[in-house]
Amino acid sequence: MPNALLETHGPPCVHSTPVVSVLLPYRPESVAAARRFAGSQLREWELDDLMDDAMVIVSELVTNSVETCCRTRMFVGLHRPADHIIRVLVGDGSRSMPVMVQAGPDATSGRGLAMVDRLTHGCWGVTPHPFGKIVHADLTVPTATSQ
Ligand SMILES: Nc1ncnc2c1ncn2[C@@H]1O[C@H](COP(=O)(O)OP(=O)(O)OP(=O)(O)O)[C@@H](O)[C@H]1O
Ligand SMILES: [Mg+2]
Repeated sequence: MPNALLETHGPPCVHSTPVVSVLLPYRPESVAAARRFAGSQLREWELDDLMDDAMVIVSELVTNSVETCCRTRMFVGLHRPADHIIRVLVGDGSRSMPVMVQAGPDATSGRGLAMVDRLTHGCWGVTPHPFGKIVHADLTVPTATSQ
């Protein structure tokens, strides 16, 4: 994993957690496998409140990577770069970039990244790499006062 992507700014991080990750094949069943992986890690972090939003994000990003039909394996990671941030990372071998589109009312596709954008309040992005790219999406951990 490139460290530049994982740098964050702000208050000192109490949880200096490593990235936890799995490599999954470019197959539809990897979407459920990625959800199980992410769900297990969120439970370990005792962040069940983020479960629903994280499951949507993981599902959308992994589905997009499955659709690249790359060979070998995609990367799915979870990171806690700061106490209040959970970062979902999905890397694939395609140099094509995600493009958020405005899906019209009759469109049958084109809503995945818009949902990620909404759930993360715009805190998502993509980092190109020689092997492809990594898409990341950040969720904010609810504080006692924000619940
Ligand atoms: N990992 C990716 N690699 C390459 N292109 C991507 C990737 N993710 C998204 N894209 C591009 O961005 C577009 C928009 O993605 P988005 O998830 O919003 O919609 P969709 O996948 O086309 O439809 P939906 O998610 O609603 O089923 C995709 O159609 C694709 O062209
Ligand atoms: Mg999609």
